[in-house]
Amino acid sequence: MCVKSTRPSRIRGLWSLALGLCSSVLLAESPLDRLTAIATDTPDTALRLDVLRGMEAALRGRNGITAPAGWNALESALAASPDAETRRLARNLGTAFGSPRALEALRNIASDGTAPTADRTAALDTLLRTRDAALVPLLQKLTAEPGVRATALRGLAGFDDAKTPAVLLAGFSQFNAAEQRDALNTLASRAAYARPLVEAVRGGKVPKAALTADLVRQLRSLKDATLAADLTQIWGVMKETSPDMSAEVERVKKLYWAGGSQPGDAPRGRVVFNQVCAQCHHLFDTGGNVGPDITGANRADLDYLLQNILFPNSVIPNEYLASTVETKDERVITGMIKSQDANGVTLQTANDMVTLPRSEIRKIEATAISMMPEGLIANLTEQQTRDLLYYLTRPGQVPLPVGTK
Ligand code: HEC
Repeated sequence: MCVKSTRPSRIRGLWSLALGLCSSVLLAESPLDRLTAIATDTPDTALRLDVLRGMEAALRGRNGITAPAGWNALESALAASPDAETRRLARNLGTAFGSPRALEALRNIASDGTAPTADRTAALDTLLRTRDAALVPLLQKLTAEPGVRATALRGLAGFDDAKTPAVLLAGFSQFNAAEQRDALNTLASRAAYARPLVEAVRGGKVPKAALTADLVRQLRSLKDATLAADLTQIWGVMKETSPDMSAEVERVKKLYWAGGSQPGDAPRGRVVFNQVCAQCHHLFDTGGNVGPDITGANRADLDYLLQNILFPNSVIPNEYLASTVETKDERVITGMIKSQDANGVTLQTANDMVTLPRSEIRKIEATAISMMPEGLIANLTEQQTRDLLYYLTRPGQVPLPVGTK
């Protein structure tokens, strides 16, 4: 049901809800003009906020919408408001309508080293949705600033720009572990970025161990013959499936118990977990949520752990199947499809939530493989494997080793 009346009911929650629900109809009928008129005319500031919020909810994630009549004057008035929320709404709506003033205000906030980090990040997120290539130099510059670095590093994956690989590789050694992973994911997102990355690994600027199994899989999905050959040289051949699962589980169990009655060291195991698992899994009190939280899983059972770590593809709940999406500007994204409609597709990747407009997508391929890659522990040393498994089977969190970043 869509609200037709020009005089909104004063039941504010319902009004916003109705606007949210009928967003597509709203666009087709363009009652944006009417809403803009209401927001302009009403002396009731609470109602005005409500109307603006409803418009924002209806237009979320959309850009390039023709500005409604009277928007320019309303935006000027709102931008001068003493209320920060009103100014924020003016910027976000202005951005959807392609208003140069709104875009400039957002760029100013994003660049402002004295503004709160949350505001800068929100401004960047909004700007990133406009997919304006003019944003690229700003994003490259912001990779030097710790507070907004992660957003900038992830955002750069959305643009094909020749300077990006050099910027990311130059800063790489100063990034923390999570930021390095963001940089690596961006570098692995298109063949033109991946070649300098592989060169950097070969030249020792990026440690070989940083190319974890999920990144290697992503790099292979770029289907570039030269890259594939380089990867085989650096990383070896990735075994896709093993003929005998139980033999492989037994082999690693024996390796584990070869470490004695206490085969591993839990704090060191936590470091390994942070390197190869934490980006996707929550365990105890920290970690990502690409995959399930494994705190409550059957961790004390070594067979369960090894079956899942060694053979993630043997049982995969549907919601964790990976898809690959190829964009018209040569980006390849591996992720789980979280939602899709006529306008676009939202994917959870290993390190980001990415929304792509349909118009930019060349191809979507469903795969039968898990978002959890195979071969995760293939490149660990025997002791690292023991430490990881020992940590995973502990009932509770342990401190990181002294001096760990
Ligand atoms: C790129 C993301 C990613 C990484 C990295 C990753 N996982 Fe997973 N993991 C998943 C996803 C997605 C699932 C669920 C689908 C499946 O079972 O394959 C999963 C499933 C699991 C499960 C089964 C959970 C259950 O509900 O029974 C375990 C255990 C597990 N992972 C452990 C690990 C460990 C240990 C590591 C590091 C060595 C790791 N994972 C690295 C994404 C990841």
